Amino acid sequence: MSSTPTATDSWARNAVVYQVYPRSFVDSDGDGLGNIAGITAKVGYLHDLGVDAVWLSPFYPSALADGGYDVDDYRDVDPRLGTLGDLDDLIAALHERGMKLVVDIVPNHTSNRHRWFQAALESAPGSPERARYVFRDGLGPDGEQPPSDWVSHFGGPAWTRVPDGQWYLHLFAPEQPDLDWSNREVHDEFLSVLKFWSDRGVDGYRIDVAHALTKDLSEPLRSKPTVANDATPETGDDPLFDRDEVHAIYEEWRQLFDQYDPPRTAVAEAWVPASRRVLYARPTELGQAFNFDLLEASWDADTYQRIIDTNIANAAESGATSTWVLSNHDVVRHATRYGLPAGTDLESWLLSDGKSAEEDPEIGRLRARAATAVMLALPGSAYLYQGEELGLREVADIPHDRLQDPMWLRSEHTRKGRDGCRVPLPWTTEAPAFGFSTAEAHLPQPAWFADYAASTQIDDQASSLSLYREALRLRRSLSAGETLTWQEAPAGVLRFDRTDGWSVVANFSGDPFPVPAGEVLLATQPLSDGVVPANTTVWFAPEAQPRD
Ligand code: NOJ
Repeated sequence: MSSTPTATDSWARNAVVYQVYPRSFVDSDGDGLGNIAGITAKVGYLHDLGVDAVWLSPFYPSALADGGYDVDDYRDVDPRLGTLGDLDDLIAALHERGMKLVVDIVPNHTSNRHRWFQAALESAPGSPERARYVFRDGLGPDGEQPPSDWVSHFGGPAWTRVPDGQWYLHLFAPEQPDLDWSNREVHDEFLSVLKFWSDRGVDGYRIDVAHALTKDLSEPLRSKPTVANDATPETGDDPLFDRDEVHAIYEEWRQLFDQYDPPRTAVAEAWVPASRRVLYARPTELGQAFNFDLLEASWDADTYQRIIDTNIANAAESGATSTWVLSNHDVVRHATRYGLPAGTDLESWLLSDGKSAEEDPEIGRLRARAATAVMLALPGSAYLYQGEELGLREVADIPHDRLQDPMWLRSEHTRKGRDGCRVPLPWTTEAPAFGFSTAEAHLPQPAWFADYAASTQIDDQASSLSLYREALRLRRSLSAGETLTWQEAPAGVLRFDRTDGWSVVANFSGDPFPVPAGEVLLATQPLSDGVVPANTTVWFAPEAQPRD
């Protein structure tokens, strides 16, 4: 350990980070569930893809009540996924190839199988064991009503009653009891967990629901009958989310992170307004916060421009760079989003098994390629989600009896959940699992996955995989600083310059736009007749202007 610089000069500032959902990446031991050794076997693939780091969604022991975000033990690996030794091997393999490892930390809640929660259940109301969680007496004559009107993100009340009559809080599934961050023991435990992984060589952390840790638990509990992300005010005094005092936690974490060389990095998952998100990204705190605006944006030039401007400005104000995300394990894949008619309600579409609106895979493919090429041309750090490099679409028609997401059951089948973007990847065209496993995959893969197999794309210059590889190779070679300058462009077209001779035209919907003079470095579809067609992004090196 040494005293080192802060997050402002971190490797993560402009990194491309690839998210692996471990149970659906590669299964090397034939049980139908992805594992750590499977990921290690693909380190060469990730290196050739050109990413700087891998972010692993939770791999900890878990009953999988919420895809692993219900953690039984923060210092171990789920035996079905491997061992701590396997994780050490993965870290070593990544480091050998110059890549970093970011792991998910889930500090808002443990699982109900965690030793702390088991001890809380075995202990009396008012005991120190219960004080690590949020236990309360119920309302009503016999305390048979929940202590407040708070609702779970997955549907239903956020409180569950235990046999002795008390209730405990869970903002997510009942198997995910919330910790009480007003208890110092909880702080110390997570500092120790972060030290455990940092000492093992983990380079950074993705902080799950980073905005939920501190809550106003003063009596009587305040009313908040919704968990909608956009319902969180910008005032910092919502009872449950984005409270001002949460930042003290991350300041303390930063002190730990900065004791390592290089300093450990962190990115907040905080579904809060853009103006508040950057607080988590301050160099004195986590250093980065996810910006989910592109992931929620329609395919529209003005919308993209506004989002890009706001986030670059906000990030600069906080001393960080922005992050950019088009897909992750919680949302409909962007190749599908952009292939659906504008304004399609994604929840209803999923609920109809993909029947309520017709997906146009070709438009989705073109727009996804163009969107990715915009994202990868922006200053800041880009987060990719496994399979997007294959151009994968959402699997909207998983048989209902195979769905795993707690959202489906807890919402009484009114919300389909997120399984459609978590289906194991197609590596080859071979049965029974497209090279993912020698067994059937834990979530069923559709026959059309064969068209997206990595093996069929690797040598095809026109494939999605080739586009990602070329874009990442170029991005690495083009030294471009952290600024972006807009150039005039007609409606429906965005045009911007990075420093050092790198320019970008993205034609969202406008008339064919004349290919600017200069060398075309990358085009997301073939350019003919000297024009950039709609749904296309081009990177080019403009002809040098004569200087006087
Ligand atoms: C955010 C994660 O991305 C999501 O998958 C999970 O369900 C919740 N946090 C709860 O941990």
